[in-house]
Amino acid sequence: MIRVLFVCLGNICRSPTAEAVFRHQLQTQRLAHLIECDSAGTSGYHSGDAPDRRAAQAAGARGYDMSALRARQVSDDDFERFDLLLAMDYNNLAELRSRADATLQHKLKLFLEFGDGEEQEVPDPYYGGREGFDHVLNLVENASIGLLQHLRGRLES
Ligand code: 4NP
Repeated sequence: MIRVLFVCLGNICRSPTAEAVFRHQLQTQRLAHLIECDSAGTSGYHSGDAPDRRAAQAAGARGYDMSALRARQVSDDDFERFDLLLAMDYNNLAELRSRADATLQHKLKLFLEFGDGEEQEVPDPYYGGREGFDHVLNLVENASIGLLQHLRGRLES
């Protein structure tokens, strides 16, 4: 089993969107028994909360269901349990880097390393409008395809 954790700040907008999109791709490609995913926030501001309603609506319009997700903060054992911890932006990557042992740093990456666009960060949509949430979805859908391709290679090697 390969385990992937998506990480943003609040775990109510970007990383639960990534979790829902990536899980949907795993299910449609019949890989859910081989690859697992979850999401968490570097902050605990929203722990226990459902996803942001705007994120859930934008995702729902594309057929992704976020209704079962609840926010949680990154925990110390996430660094052991997951094979990849994928940060939505440089601030969250830096926070993960400061918390992880030297031996586990190789698990930490920016999620958009797996995308094929120019952007390196999934921008925080919290204080913006609907288009910000659609932009998050575009970036997340694109990077999820690349991530899945990468993990297929790991499963075969
Ligand atoms: P997220 O978005 O990190 O994508 O879940 C945010 C959610 C909440 C806040 C900031 C970003 N906040 O400041 O409360």
